[in-house]
Amino acid sequence: MTTRVLFVCLGNICRSPSAEGVFGELAAGLDVTTDSAGTSNWHVGEPPFAPMLAAAIARGYDLSDLRSRQFKAEDFSRHDLIIGMDADNLRDMERLRPPGNDTPVVVFTDFVAAHGADHVPDPYYTGDYEGCLN
Ligand code: 4NP
Repeated sequence: MTTRVLFVCLGNICRSPSAEGVFGELAAGLDVTTDSAGTSNWHVGEPPFAPMLAAAIARGYDLSDLRSRQFKAEDFSRHDLIIGMDADNLRDMERLRPPGNDTPVVVFTDFVAAHGADHVPDPYYTGDYEGCLN
C-alpha cells in the first residue's frame, strides 16, 4: 500500500519543497508519494525561493517544477503522515484538523535527533540554505 507523505512549512518555498525533493530521492523505489504545502498563502503558485533552488540544484535536487500551495483541512485525509518543520507549523495545521481525523502530524526533527535541533531553521530568515538541506 502506498504511503503518502506531506511536508509542511510556512511559505512552501524553502524548507518543505527541499524536504519533498530530498526525501523523494532518498525514497526512490519505495511505495511512497511525496507532496508539500505551506500554512500561509503568501507564495501560492510560486516556485521555490531562488537561492533555495540554487542550493538544491547544486546538490542534484531539481525543485524547479514545484509550486507553492496552501495547506488545507483536506490534506489530513489525503496523507498518511504529515511532517512539519517547526512548532508553529504543527499548531497552525492542528487548527484545521477535521473532527475524528487521526493522521499523525510530527515535527521533522523527530527523525534527525543526531542534529540536536527541535525545528528546521528557516533559511528564508537565516540565509542558511546548506543547513536546511543538511
Ligand atoms: P519556508 O520559508 O516556510 O521554509 O518556505 C519562508 C518563506 C517565506 C516567508 C517565510 C518563510 N515569508 O515571510 O514570505
